[in-house]
Amino acid sequence: MKVPSSAVCASKSTAHAVSERVIPIISQALGNLSVPVLSSTDPAMADPNLKDGLNRPLRDLRISVTDRCNFRCSYCMPKEIFNSDYVYLPQSALLSFEEITRTAQSFIALGVEKIRLTGGEPLLRKNLEVLIHQLSGLQTLSGHALDITLTTNGSLLARKAQSLKDAGLKRVTVSLDGLDDAVFKSMNDVDFPVSDVLDGIAAAQAAGLGPIKVNMVVKKGTNEQEVLPMARYFRGKGIALRFIEYMDVGATNGWRMNEVMPSADVLQLLQTELALAPLAPSQTGETAERWGYLDAHGHHDASLGEVGFISSVTKAFCSDCNRARLTTEGQLYLCLFASQGYDLKPLIRSNSEPEALTHAIAAIWSQRTERYSEVRQQVLVESDQATDPGHALKRKVEMSYIGG
Ligand code: GTP
Ligand code: 5AD
Ligand code: SF4
Ligand code: SF4
Repeated sequence: MKVPSSAVCASKSTAHAVSERVIPIISQALGNLSVPVLSSTDPAMADPNLKDGLNRPLRDLRISVTDRCNFRCSYCMPKEIFNSDYVYLPQSALLSFEEITRTAQSFIALGVEKIRLTGGEPLLRKNLEVLIHQLSGLQTLSGHALDITLTTNGSLLARKAQSLKDAGLKRVTVSLDGLDDAVFKSMNDVDFPVSDVLDGIAAAQAAGLGPIKVNMVVKKGTNEQEVLPMARYFRGKGIALRFIEYMDVGATNGWRMNEVMPSADVLQLLQTELALAPLAPSQTGETAERWGYLDAHGHHDASLGEVGFISSVTKAFCSDCNRARLTTEGQLYLCLFASQGYDLKPLIRSNSEPEALTHAIAAIWSQRTERYSEVRQQVLVESDQATDPGHALKRKVEMSYIGG
């Protein structure tokens, strides 16, 4: 794993911190997990119906293309840690586009149908359109086009939407935590204005990068007053607004349970003004619970769009989790909250047959039993991030490194 040079503890308070907190400077030097080897007779070897140790298939591959971002959201890349001393991955460590595409082919051979490009901020990766074009040439096992999408902070979208579409990108998800400039700027911590993100969303819509989703992380005491304005704004615009519970990803955001706004409370707030009813999931393994707007007669009106709730903290959705994560330097992570990954880079860069990589991924996936959100309480009790220095052993990888 890539590691910033130092591993010390710093006590800091930020402009937005609710109280003094201890932020460990992350050391990801926990080593890699060893890549298991399958015997040639193992049925998991190249099985499109491959299941993990909890009977979950592999369908969704999230590929991080850079660990850098031009925002410093306090819940993801707090400024005190991700400052000029922070050591990002060197160019030589990054998988090339050809390497990413070959690796994606191995995942597709095992059942992957959707690829999401993430970061950091994926649009900071130079010539990303070239990668998208390569990926768009791949087909799923059933012969369908891959669902290729991207999660972005929207800052470069106005400029890039059309070229992304032309390269073969199907749709985008844009992060936006509020419509009030002061609130949004305090959350992105780089003074970035709301209007530029809205321009990016409009450009994505004009380019046909839909259906567009907007992700809003709701932090209690910070931006819950933006929930209703955001819902009002996106209702009827053909954009699904999803509310994400503030999560304890990584080890640097100083997460506290009392800053989590449970989805049930967000829903209650919405229902003070807007009529909503639950919708059926559109596919298994979905992160969001969907709710649709009702018309004046109490009937679901699809033209008004929908909202979603991503409730990793209060309502875990691990039982159907079909997501694998590939880091910028070729490590495979089996959970957003994992501490260690499997280093696939040697295999990706070796001259061995492509099947060797597919078999290694199959072997790793077939042993997967991760379900962090379901066991969060127990893990947090065993290893209190705020007070127990020993938690370093279980330190979770940063979201900007692994992708969201
Ligand atoms: P689509 O349904 O394809 O649009 O995508 P998605 O909902 O899987 O992707 P998106 O990147 O928009 O995910 C939304 C957010 O949900 C992410 O940014 C994360 O905050 C969170 N998330 C995604 N996958 C997981 C996961 O496996 N576990 C947890 N706990 N959170 C996740
Ligand atoms: N909790 C919840 N969501 C988060 N994201 C980043 N960090 C966190 C966190 N700690 C979200 C971003 C973006 C996506 C990539 O993940 O807002 O929508
Ligand atoms: Fe950047 Fe997204 Fe993390 Fe914010 S949440 S710092 S935009 S990667
Ligand atoms: Fe999947 Fe881990 Fe998220 Fe659970 S916590 S849904 S296992 S990534």
